[in-house]
Amino acid sequence: DWTMGAYREQMIEKIREQVGDKQVICGLSGGVDSSVAAILIHEAIGDQLTCVFVDHGLLRKNEAEEVVAMFRDNYNIKLIHADESDLFLGELDGQSDPETKRKIIGKLFIDVFQKHADTIDGAEFLAQGTLYPDVIESVSFSGGPSVTIKSHHNVGGLPEKMGLKLVEPLRELFKDEVRALGRELGLPQSFIGRHPFPGPGLAIRCPGEITREKLEILREADAVYIDQIRKHGLYDDIWQAFVAILPVRTVGVMGDGRTYDYACALRAVTSVDGMTADYYPFSHEFLGETATRIINEVKGINRCTYDITSKPPGTIEWE
Ligand code: XMP
Repeated sequence: DWTMGAYREQMIEKIREQVGDKQVICGLSGGVDSSVAAILIHEAIGDQLTCVFVDHGLLRKNEAEEVVAMFRDNYNIKLIHADESDLFLGELDGQSDPETKRKIIGKLFIDVFQKHADTIDGAEFLAQGTLYPDVIESVSFSGGPSVTIKSHHNVGGLPEKMGLKLVEPLRELFKDEVRALGRELGLPQSFIGRHPFPGPGLAIRCPGEITREKLEILREADAVYIDQIRKHGLYDDIWQAFVAILPVRTVGVMGDGRTYDYACALRAVTSVDGMTADYYPFSHEFLGETATRIINEVKGINRCTYDITSKPPGTIEWE
């Protein structure tokens, strides 16, 4: 795309002009926006950029490894992988209130980001993947009052607190333009077309108390579900799809034994902007096959339901 090619060159010049020979820090979430921002800035200033990837232990199966491999090995970007899962899961232990869980994660995220950013000598700039719609409005969600879509990764208020200036190369772009720029920069389509993933991660897909055991089961079930969706060629028709592990165990039979395991709910919605959503009309055949696979392949789950709530009145996430 020639326009994106031109934009890329123009932005690289602008970033070089703004940053000079100073150091830049960028928080990576694994999402498209921060990824494209990081890769563009890296093209402009190379090793003057250090990315900080805060791993809160609430990511999906293999997600942390994939992000690290993509940026460190593939793009050769300096990356701090802050594995802080013990800290996050420790603080979340015993907490079941959705807003409390979000607040704990949001606060720790900022603390941890700052702690790691402080180790980067002479940093003067903070890079963010802010898009044009983020500039003109801050959207809040019914699932989380006072929480904007990127509150955890845009580390609000931090730049001033740390005395950092902002670098926001995507400020003039809409989401589809960021995807086009990502393609231009060589990001694989599997990465660019990924469903949105919330900052608090699996914490809000594990209603009630979070345990490592539940997270492990949830990761496995979610991986099987997404694999099913991809195999049936449905991934790109869906805005967001995921599994929630329910805080209830139910009785089942397996062979000649009785099981007493967790129930899970599958969620898949279509949407334009996440503000309203309809459940996805999977065929019964797809649903049956997927339930069978999850129950057979995932130890710890023996019952599977499909969530057919639209938004409103439901939210997309379960918390
Ligand atoms: P809800 O569940 O409110 O979600 O219908 C709408 C969209 O926002 C995402 N979401 C969040 N993203 N922090 C985030 O970064 C949050 O606390 C949060 N809560 C919901 C959700 O995944 C969906 O795309």
